[in-house]
Amino acid sequence: MDRLLFCFPGNEALGENLLNRPGYRIGKAILRRFPDRESYVRILTDVKGENVDILCTLHQPDDKLMMIYFFSQLAKQLGAKSVRLIAPYLAYMRQDKEFHPGEAVTSDLFAQLLGSWIDELITIDPHLHRHPRLSDIYDIPTTVLHAGPLIVDHIRKHLSKPVLIGPDEESKQWVAAIASQVGCDFLVLKKERLGDRTVRIDVPDAPKFRDHSPVLVDDIISTGHTMMETAGHLNEHGIPPPVCIGVHAVFAGNAWKEMLAAGIRHIVTTNTIAHPSNAIDVSELLTSRLFSQGFRSGDHVE
Ligand code: R5P
Repeated sequence: MDRLLFCFPGNEALGENLLNRPGYRIGKAILRRFPDRESYVRILTDVKGENVDILCTLHQPDDKLMMIYFFSQLAKQLGAKSVRLIAPYLAYMRQDKEFHPGEAVTSDLFAQLLGSWIDELITIDPHLHRHPRLSDIYDIPTTVLHAGPLIVDHIRKHLSKPVLIGPDEESKQWVAAIASQVGCDFLVLKKERLGDRTVRIDVPDAPKFRDHSPVLVDDIISTGHTMMETAGHLNEHGIPPPVCIGVHAVFAGNAWKEMLAAGIRHIVTTNTIAHPSNAIDVSELLTSRLFSQGFRSGDHVE
């Protein structure tokens, strides 16, 4: 079935790769800001009766939401049959419980909001921790894709004698699966978050892996503190500087530069968020699912 793809600002590089796929037509729209930063949306391509895809990764989501809202509602007003959001990075997944009394559980509220605007959601490795499935919080059909096999390929091609290190318990799901496919050892560290920008990490048995290439794998690199603290601790135990692999290159503020300055050997991310550290391409992973049919309810987990 033909689909119309609209690439939101900042998603052009990934969008171009997707458009090489037969069955996609490019939709034209004007998406811009007024001088006061309010959003302007005009759809130029006729969307009547069309299945419409929005490609918009949700890094820094608050800046993007109004445009997604205006666009999705306008597309429906103009007669679109369906509106699907392809968000390679899905935001607001980490505040998944009320850690302190009176806090908003934003993972759930965000899911309700997004789910009331769009008909379907496709994403890659959302931060599923206390909600084991996206369908626990999203009422619309969702497809979850995994970058794990791409990371496995990358490690196999580029690193010798790796030991995979997961910065915290949440990362165990990744690290264990990736290590078993690479055929190497893995460690999972204990992380305690002391504040927005402070974490404390314990590394058990690190000296055992002194002659290995440490590879830190995590789903999100945000402030980079998790990776930097881990690298610092490895260093104290005589372990060489690690390669850090993150699926989602969030890199809040100067995180990327700070990580490089902190002695991280190399930083590798996927292009779910466009960033100079992108070295793993998710286009094929996405296109493998974009034209699949029949996932009308609940998660369709790859
Ligand atoms: C958290 O649970 C995630 O899996 C990542 O470990 C976390 O988001 C990384 O954040 P930061 O880079 O700010 O330490």
